[in-house]
Amino acid sequence: MSVRRLQLMRAFLLACLAGAAAATCPCAWDPSASSLACGDLGLTEVPTACFDAHPGARTLNLTSNEITQLRRKDFSGNVDNLEVLLIDNNPVSMFYPDAFAELANLQEVSIQTTVFAAISSRPFQEQPKAE
Ligand SMILES: *[C@@H]1O[C@H](CO)[C@@H](O)[C@H](O)[C@H]1NC(C)=O
Repeated sequence: MSVRRLQLMRAFLLACLAGAAAATCPCAWDPSASSLACGDLGLTEVPTACFDAHPGARTLNLTSNEITQLRRKDFSGNVDNLEVLLIDNNPVSMFYPDAFAELANLQEVSIQTTVFAAISSRPFQEQPKAE
C-alpha cells in the first residue's frame, strides 16, 4: 500500500517536473555559437520551450539525458535554424520516422544510443518481414 502511494507520488513529481520543463528552457544558451547546451540535465523529453526562447539556435545538445521518445512534435515550432542535433547517450525507446520532418536545415544528427524500437508512421500497412 505504501509502496503504491510512493509510486503515485513519484509519478506526480515526474509530471510536475515535465510541466516545469515544458514552460521554461532548462538549457544553457551560448549566443556566440548559437547553441543550446542541454547535456546531463536528466531531461525525459526534448525541452521544446527552448525553441521559443532561442529561435536562432543552430545546435541542440541533448547528450546524456533520459529522453525516451523522439516525435515530430518534439522538434516543431521555431526550429528553422537548427542544424546540429546531438542526442547521444539517451534511452530512446520510440523513434518516429517523421521526428525530424520539420527541421528544414538539419545537417548533422548524432544518436549514438540504443534505440529499442522504431515506430512506423504507417502502422497499418504491411511491413517487410524481419527475417
Ligand atoms: C554536448 O554535451 C555533452 C554533455 O554536457 C558534452 O560533453 C559535449 O562536449 C557537448 N558537445 C558539444 C559539441 O558541445
